Amino acid sequence: MTQPAALSSGPEAPSGPPSGIQQPAAQTMDREANPIDWPDARLLCPGDIWRDTSGEVIQAHGGGILRHGGAYYWFGEDKSGPTTLNARNAARVPFRGIRAYRSTDLVAWHPLGTVLHPADDDPSHPLHPSKVVERPKVIYNDAGDHFVMWFKAGGADYEYMHLGVATSRAIAGPYQFRHAGPPNGLRAGDFAVQRDADGSAYLIHPSDRFSVMIVARLNDAATGVSGELSRVLRSSGGYEGHEAPAVFQRDGRWYMITSRVSGWAPNPCRVCVAERLTGPWEVMGELCDPQETSDTFASQPACVLQPDTRNGTCIYVGDRWSRESLGDSRYVWLPLVWEGDRPWLRWQERWSPHDHTIGVDSLGCP
Ligand code: DGJ
Repeated sequence: MTQPAALSSGPEAPSGPPSGIQQPAAQTMDREANPIDWPDARLLCPGDIWRDTSGEVIQAHGGGILRHGGAYYWFGEDKSGPTTLNARNAARVPFRGIRAYRSTDLVAWHPLGTVLHPADDDPSHPLHPSKVVERPKVIYNDAGDHFVMWFKAGGADYEYMHLGVATSRAIAGPYQFRHAGPPNGLRAGDFAVQRDADGSAYLIHPSDRFSVMIVARLNDAATGVSGELSRVLRSSGGYEGHEAPAVFQRDGRWYMITSRVSGWAPNPCRVCVAERLTGPWEVMGELCDPQETSDTFASQPACVLQPDTRNGTCIYVGDRWSRESLGDSRYVWLPLVWEGDRPWLRWQERWSPHDHTIGVDSLGCP
């Protein structure tokens, strides 16, 4: 195993190869349109520069992935603007929008453009470029036949720990802003949105200085909270608290990968387990072997891509943040490895989703 380099702080990479998604030379060819021309382009290289099918560097940080209608949709932060430090020394970029990408094989990502736009003309709007907007997660509400995007709305300076909601009739947007605020009146950090087996959707987010994780049931439209919540994973908070929850299910049990709390700096993630989404949850242990990495291969969870088969491969989807130049942050995606009912994250220089059962039919989606 080669240990990944420390967080990159280099300038935005020029377009063209090399790419973390291994591609043949013709960078501008659309691989979705020409699948037969891309027989070897099947590898994901965690931590390298990843390009979309038009050759542009993918901007989808803190992302969420939704499988819908035979394809995967990856939503994430466009962090391509200049990185600045605020008064409290926190790095941020102007909000340029949430981007989306579509793929049927998790390797070739076709750009769909900006699906949630900044509110350029209203400085008080939570989506104004001066504001922090992070970690979009989209779910489908089949009852209302709409897509709901939740996101962190941090104000200009991370002074708010709010969540926002935008909706769209089409998965690729444009998403219309609905509201932003503290869910259930609580401060909310990084979050997950997860549907339970009975169809209820839940927000899972830390609160109270990361000393507790809130599991809050959403309303039927999934556009707001219902008022029903449980408090789980209590801790001393601070660094030892839980952040960046990524939730998934396997063999009837729920799992949650969480980072510790250290801003943009990576740290050792933990894995937690529960019989029910609403808890109680317990910490199983570290996600990675400390002999292999002390900082989750220099990454933080964005989500876990859940297979649609009972024993399919769950994929850890993480960000390798570059605090000095956030737009140069990279993606660390790795298949989780199971020892009995215990998942581990192990490093691979390159790997192919085609070698795994992920819920795609020979990597054409179901
Ligand atoms: C860690 C979070 O996970 C990121 O989304 C971002 O908000 C940084 N903190 C800011 O320091």
